[in-house]
Amino acid sequence: MLLGTGGYLPETILTNAQLTETIDTTDEWIVERTGIRERRIAAPHETASSMAEIAAREALEAAGLAPNAVDLIIVGTATPDRIFPSTACLLQQRLDIRHCAAFDVQAACSGFIFALSIADQYIRSGNAKHVLVVGSELNSRLVDWSDRSTCILFGDGAGAAVLGAAREPGIFSTHINSDGQYKDLLYVSNPTNSRGEINESPYIKMQGNEVFKIAVNTLEHIVDETLDANGFVQSDIDWLVPHQANIRIIAATARKLKMPMEQVVVTLERQGNTSAASIPLALNEAIRDGRIRRGQILLMEAFGAGFAWGSALIRY
Ligand code: COA
Repeated sequence: MLLGTGGYLPETILTNAQLTETIDTTDEWIVERTGIRERRIAAPHETASSMAEIAAREALEAAGLAPNAVDLIIVGTATPDRIFPSTACLLQQRLDIRHCAAFDVQAACSGFIFALSIADQYIRSGNAKHVLVVGSELNSRLVDWSDRSTCILFGDGAGAAVLGAAREPGIFSTHINSDGQYKDLLYVSNPTNSRGEINESPYIKMQGNEVFKIAVNTLEHIVDETLDANGFVQSDIDWLVPHQANIRIIAATARKLKMPMEQVVVTLERQGNTSAASIPLALNEAIRDGRIRRGQILLMEAFGAGFAWGSALIRY
């Protein structure tokens, strides 16, 4: 079950109005096409592991657990501090946790759902008792700030959840999937090639329109698949906690579930797309402000580069 959550957002706010000073765009266009009004930008000294540490400590406190009670750490990130060791290992060192496995999951915006799915398998099999699952992203360093079709979308942040074994499972099921044939619609090249030369553009490249259409279709399918797998109907869901990429994608999924937007946790207006961090950040916010209550049923879903997508149905 989900024992506790935490989140961290960097202090600096970058508004749409500020973006209009450097690129050819307007606040109206960004709000209408994406729903985003502002995003957070990490300070130069911050890294995926430093943000993850703050979110993780908050989640552990909410769970009432000391760091050393954790026996598995999984971090979803596409913006690791180092190529290796993993950001999860760096987080383990920051939390001074000894003797547990720690590794990253690279599934872009679906990283948290993929990490949650792995955590669930470990707990179900009895191989882990307490798992720390984190999404942490420094998208501002992957964005080409002169590309108006991508730089308006992304933000930085970290979210964390602590899962624990329980008699009644909190996670009913997780569903993850990938299709590498779409590798060129949304990607970031490795900053160096195999000989250590610098690639000319290590920034996010995206065919937004294509990504948008496939995301909407795919998410509609995975929502059905998740409900069917558990014998649930749409009205059983109390909250949709979606990946925060575009309000129009979120609204399409809510329509499919016949859910009013009041039952959807939306944070992208103030945070933009924080990739693997967006679901745990949204979850944390709605739990802490009292919207999500114990016993309620939550559907989480994500879609991102790969393409890689997934969902989780849980009782909080
Ligand atoms: N300000 C103003 N105009 C912009 C703009 C901006 N920031 N960005 C693009 N445009 C222009 C384009 O140049 C294009 O102009 P043209 O018709 O003269 O060529 C026009 O707006 C339409 O572009 P298009 O890309 O078709 O817009 P869109 O409605 O698809 O919205 C996105 C663009 C990126 C907001 C949208 O496609 C999207 O959100 N896609 C999914 C992204 C996503 O989810 N990515 C992450 C997955 S995790």
